[in-house]
Amino acid sequence: MSIAKKEYKRVTVKSLVEMKKQGEKISMLTAYDYSMAKIVDAANVDVILVGDSASNVMAGHETTLPITLDQMIYHASSVIRAVHRALVVVDLPFGSYQSDPKEALRSAIRIMKESGAHAVKLEGGEEIKESVKRILNAGIPVMGHLGLTPQSIYKFGTYSVRAKDTDEAEKLMADARMLEKIGCFSIVLEKIPAALTKKVSESISIPTIGIGGGKHADGQVLVIHDLLGMTHEFNPRFLRRYMNLYDEMSEAISQYVQDVKSKDFPSEEEQY
Ligand code: KIV
Repeated sequence: MSIAKKEYKRVTVKSLVEMKKQGEKISMLTAYDYSMAKIVDAANVDVILVGDSASNVMAGHETTLPITLDQMIYHASSVIRAVHRALVVVDLPFGSYQSDPKEALRSAIRIMKESGAHAVKLEGGEEIKESVKRILNAGIPVMGHLGLTPQSIYKFGTYSVRAKDTDEAEKLMADARMLEKIGCFSIVLEKIPAALTKKVSESISIPTIGIGGGKHADGQVLVIHDLLGMTHEFNPRFLRRYMNLYDEMSEAISQYVQDVKSKDFPSEEEQY
């Protein structure tokens, strides 16, 4: 049963702004490969993010910094081949947009051209304004990302809640207004106080998508491996697990090993 206010055959950046206007919350999830993206898209998730969290959950790195533009394009093209309805947004990885606006545009164009993605996401505010403008001027939709921006983890030092003090909260609000003004279609707000998410979401006309930002965001995003319980060592307060796939998969795989060792698998019926 769907509780969507309107059926969207194909979600676009315009649909998301319309959802905010209608008071319909936006669902967003990450995916990094064809098989997972097919399931996520068929479940009517509005936005699929090919996040640079692939660096953590797919490649096993401690941070999002090592993933490359080529690797993001590989993940994004696999996702795009599976998707019929969702808007597919791809992260510009660390090092592909910070040095200058021309490089940022070149990276965004490579993502759009080589993967077929629909939009890109960049972390940061005023510091990357010129890069965001350059990408938008080329007709590429941009999603912003403020608050806890994992590509800056070594500047922050920890993954704790951001913008708790007035200065940082005011800067975040100014950055959100600026991103709206220059033409971004949406902004991810990561790990900030719920009251600040409410204030930002009420002050701008483009949708906010929260992760650890509380219930007042216009939409929510989670990393698919966390939602499914495939990662069991990561337990932030904001995470709701809908399955315990780590245990279920472990049991199934152990059973397979046992069946092979005991010569139970394959049976007469499972051979030619
Ligand atoms: O890379 C990612 O998965 C993200 C989300 C956590 C928003 O940026």
